[in-house]
Amino acid sequence: MQDTLREALDWACSRAGWWHDSGNLHPEVLRSLADHATRLGVRVTAETGCGLSTVLLSTIAEWHTCFTVAAGNSLERVQDVAYLRHDHVNFVVGPSQLTLARHSFDRPLDFVLIDGPHGFPYPQMEYFHFYQRIRKGGLLVIDDIHIPTIRQMYDFLRDEKMWTHIEDVMTTAFFQRSEEPMFNPHGDGWETQQFNQRHFQDSASMDIYCSGWRERMPPPPGPILGANSVEAPSALIALNDARREEIARLKLENASLRSSTSWRLTAPLRALSSAVRRRR
Ligand SMILES: C[S@@+](CC[C@H](N)C(=O)[O-])C[C@H]1O[C@@H](n2cnc3c(N)ncnc32)[C@H](O)[C@@H]1O
Repeated sequence: MQDTLREALDWACSRAGWWHDSGNLHPEVLRSLADHATRLGVRVTAETGCGLSTVLLSTIAEWHTCFTVAAGNSLERVQDVAYLRHDHVNFVVGPSQLTLARHSFDRPLDFVLIDGPHGFPYPQMEYFHFYQRIRKGGLLVIDDIHIPTIRQMYDFLRDEKMWTHIEDVMTTAFFQRSEEPMFNPHGDGWETQQFNQRHFQDSASMDIYCSGWRERMPPPPGPILGANSVEAPSALIALNDARREEIARLKLENASLRSSTSWRLTAPLRALSSAVRRRR
C-alpha cells in the first residue's frame, strides 16, 4: 500500500461516524475498500455520494468521478481535506438521478461505489448506468444492504451470473464482475435472469418461458431477504412440484373411485348414513 493511501486511510479511520451529516463509511469498510482496490490495481473509479470514500479513492485512482449533491455538508468537508488529491477527482454535482444518465465515461470503470441516494429506485437506477461500464474483473460495492429495497438488489446480484459475491463487511457488499456477457441494457430478458427463474411463483410456467432453466440452475446463494426469509429457493421449487404432483394424483384417484361399480352400488348406503347424521 502506498504511503499516501496509508496516511489517508489512517486519517479516515479515525474520523467519527458522523464526520459529515450524511453518515460516513465504517473504518472496517474503508479498510476493505482500500484492500480490494489496491489488490486489483484499480485506475478508473466512480462513486455516488461523497465522504471519506472520496478522499481514499482519490489517493488510489488515476481518475475518480464522484456524482454527488451539494446539499448537507459532505461535499464541502471532503473538498477541505488535505489528503484529497483534487487533480484526480471530477466532482459531478447534482442529483445522480439526472447526472449519471447524462454522463459519458471515456474509459471502462475498474471500481464503483454506490452510496448516494438510498430510496427506491435510485440505487437501482445507478446500477443500471454503472453495470454497463464496469469492466470484467472490476469491482462493484453497494452500501446499506440492510435497507430492504437495497437488500432486494443485493439478493438479485448474488444470484446474477455477471457478478461474483466476494464479501460483506458490516452492511456493505463487494461484488466482482465475472466473465459472463453483459445483460442487454436496451432489451428485455427477465426470463433469462436466474433470480427470476428461481423465485417464479409457478415454476411449471417458468418452463414455458425458458426451457431447461432447471438443469442450468446452480445451488441457491443463501437465504434471501434477511433473517425472516423462508426456505431455500430450490427447496421451495421442489416442494411446489411435489405438492402439485400429489394433488394431481389424488384428483385422479378420486375420479376413478367415483366412476367405479362399488361406489355406485354403495350410493344408497351413503345417502342413508348422511340422513341419519343430519337427524342427530
Ligand atoms: C451516506 S453518504 C456517503 C458516505 C461516503 N461514502 C463516505 O464514505 O463518507 C451519502 C452521500 O450521498 C449524497 N447524496 C444524497 N442524495 C443524493 C443524490 N440524489 N444524488 C447524489 N448524491 C446524493 C449525500 O450528499 C452524501 O454525500
